[in-house]
Amino acid sequence: LAKIEVKLSEIPEGKNLTVKWRSKPLFIRHRTQAEIERERAVDLTTLRDPQTDDVRVQKPEYLVLLGICTHLGCVPLANQGDFNGYFCPCHGSHYDASGRIRKGPAPLNLEIPPYTITDDDLLIVG
Ligand code: FES
Repeated sequence: LAKIEVKLSEIPEGKNLTVKWRSKPLFIRHRTQAEIERERAVDLTTLRDPQTDDVRVQKPEYLVLLGICTHLGCVPLANQGDFNGYFCPCHGSHYDASGRIRKGPAPLNLEIPPYTITDDDLLIVG
């Protein structure tokens, strides 16, 4: 039910695209090499919900997230906050460019929906 397809090559590097999926916001971010390296280098002992970057992405260039704050469900803003990822303005939760919670009241990382990426960079969510 309700799969969506997005051509990843149409998202410029460094940009976040927001689309609707099952009436929820979905964030698709084309990460730069610098962002990938920064997220891979994060010390897991500093994380509230410790997850390595590589378990959160199928292809390192593309981060796919549900755009719903794990605190009380607001929609975070892309490319904002202290960790250059996402910032939830409702109560000030800061997420990094792997969607991991880094600061503020949210308890968990942003959720990753079920998806696949084909060889020609077509994202299929659902
Ligand atoms: Fe995002 Fe509270 S809903 S910080």
